[in-house]
Amino acid sequence: MEIFAHRGASGSRPENTMAAFLEAAVLPIDGVELDVHLSSDGVPVVIHDETVDRTTDGSGYVKDMTLVELKQLSAGCRFADEFSGERIPTLREVLELFRGKPHRLNIELKSDVFPYPGMREKVIGMVKEFGIGDRVILSSFDHVTLEAAKREAPEIETGMLFVEILADAPADAARIGADALHPALPFAIREPGRHAAAEGAILRVFTVNDPVHALLVRDAGAQAIFTDYPAKMLELFK
Ligand code: G3P
Ligand code: MG
Repeated sequence: MEIFAHRGASGSRPENTMAAFLEAAVLPIDGVELDVHLSSDGVPVVIHDETVDRTTDGSGYVKDMTLVELKQLSAGCRFADEFSGERIPTLREVLELFRGKPHRLNIELKSDVFPYPGMREKVIGMVKEFGIGDRVILSSFDHVTLEAAKREAPEIETGMLFVEILADAPADAARIGADALHPALPFAIREPGRHAAAEGAILRVFTVNDPVHALLVRDAGAQAIFTDYPAKMLELFK
């Protein structure tokens, strides 16, 4: 079973921070997942929500704040005081951190609510600049953006994110040129997911923190899990 640290090692460090990515980078896991939005001055930044409210000491939409404004916020103080110095990372900072490392990087394009004009092109450009197209996976719940990404950079793998138990996900993925299915747990362990895996589809499943769920996912034939607890899952599957 391949293990991807979800938002970095977000069970033990504040999600989508350098602390979470540093923790993941020293583990012998397969990859790391991170979420990208765009600042008002057009910089891809690594944060999960459209707003900074849940994960920082600020409030407001990421799209309305410049990088300088975003960098003033603490991205760790809500997790624990000792992480109050953590900032919202830029995508470039995270790519620098993993430069030369073996980990696969799953960059999730969070254009589901706000379209972030130019974000997809900037992310693809940065992946090419770093020369890491062979170890990046672009994913999104925004299948329109994902289809466009595959058209623009066919050499970069794409993963179709979804939460429903879709009747024929492999056909849906094929229509948008996606290379893999990135389903929530229920699809993966029910018949449509099992069938897709048996037919050769690549399934990477989110977000799997329960060992019982993890074993069900493995038995259903999925290739990878996204987990907040990568060290715990390494123990389970060793
Ligand atoms: O990419 C897997 C997972 O991160 C998708 O859901 O909401 O945690 O970004 P979410
Ligand atoms: Mg995500």
